[in-house]
Amino acid sequence: MKKIFEPISLGGLNLKNRILRSATLTDKDSQNGIYLPNHADVCAQLSKNKVACIVSGMICVGTNSSAADFAPRADHRQFPERFKEACDAVHNNGGKFVAQLAHSGANAMVFDVGENPWAPSDILSSMGFDAKEMTLEQIDLVIKDFAKAARICKEAGADAVQLHCAHAYLISQFLSPYYNKRSDEYGGTLEKRARFLFDVYHAVREVVGMDYPIWIKINYDDLIGEDGTCGDDCIWVCKEMEKLGVNAIEISSGLGIDRESRPMQKALEGAMVGHFTEGALKVAEVVDIDVISVGGYRTKEQIENCLNLGKIKAISMSRPFADPKYISGWEE
Ligand SMILES: Cc1cc2nc3c(=O)[nH]c(=O)nc-3n(C[C@H](O)[C@H](O)[C@H](O)COP(=O)(O)O)c2cc1C
Repeated sequence: MKKIFEPISLGGLNLKNRILRSATLTDKDSQNGIYLPNHADVCAQLSKNKVACIVSGMICVGTNSSAADFAPRADHRQFPERFKEACDAVHNNGGKFVAQLAHSGANAMVFDVGENPWAPSDILSSMGFDAKEMTLEQIDLVIKDFAKAARICKEAGADAVQLHCAHAYLISQFLSPYYNKRSDEYGGTLEKRARFLFDVYHAVREVVGMDYPIWIKINYDDLIGEDGTCGDDCIWVCKEMEKLGVNAIEISSGLGIDRESRPMQKALEGAMVGHFTEGALKVAEVVDIDVISVGGYRTKEQIENCLNLGKIKAISMSRPFADPKYISGWEE
């Protein structure tokens, strides 16, 4: 029987228990593309209060990648120094810190180049911008930006990187037929739609080396029916990523193009066994790498129950950790 409070090895990291803070971007601890000084304190508080591993809020990797002007960017001059403060703060409390790397693609809000977001194919973004199909040169540049960001985070002290492949950010947009209508080598079949993720993975692996953990966070289901990805697609991608050497997979869901497909909305409805838990259980059944389940977990009993339904190795939460002491009173 798995217990929350027991040491585990997860995706190449030794953790003191099975609870993670999932990636959470907020304007309370970053502004104008860089962390505020309180960011390290927030991370310290979480790790002091029993959270074994903190996944950073999304770090935008470079050109046209930012989801918001406050979102931290790996190519900001002060990034390495501020990011290192958070890594050190977490390490001083016996925790682990994982850098989530993201490009917002069609849903970018800040443009360094041109006036339109970059996307797998032309689309009116959910923010109301005319997102434009990326050229092969732009794809190549973004792949390199992921690799550069991974190097910066590793050098600043991150214990692992997590590629954000969920929730309609760029990698998820390439995976999803809703966003990806390309007819070149990056679109069409699932294999071709996954090529961007594979290329990003290879570029990141090359700079971080074989012994450094690379995790992914991916949608089990886009939750938009036939226009989006489904569980079988996710399972295929996860199996391929396993062959390539990815170290852990966090399973979420939802493309967020309407209320029904909003990842956070589903969780509000209670995710004990739903799109989130069920998908994570199915993936964990077919891959030999560690699977983390996220979405709607709130109580110790709920989490312990879920951990023992199958092979899910750890649970991550976001909203509850608005109170960094959320699990500090949970009996060990
Ligand atoms: C304020 C806020 C910011 C978030 N930022 C990110 C993010 O940067 N990257 C990401 O993958 N998910 C992000 N999420 C989603 C969470 O990581 C998580 O998947 C989702 O909230 C469901 O978990 P919960 O029910 O425990 O909150 C964010 C959620 C919230 C509430």
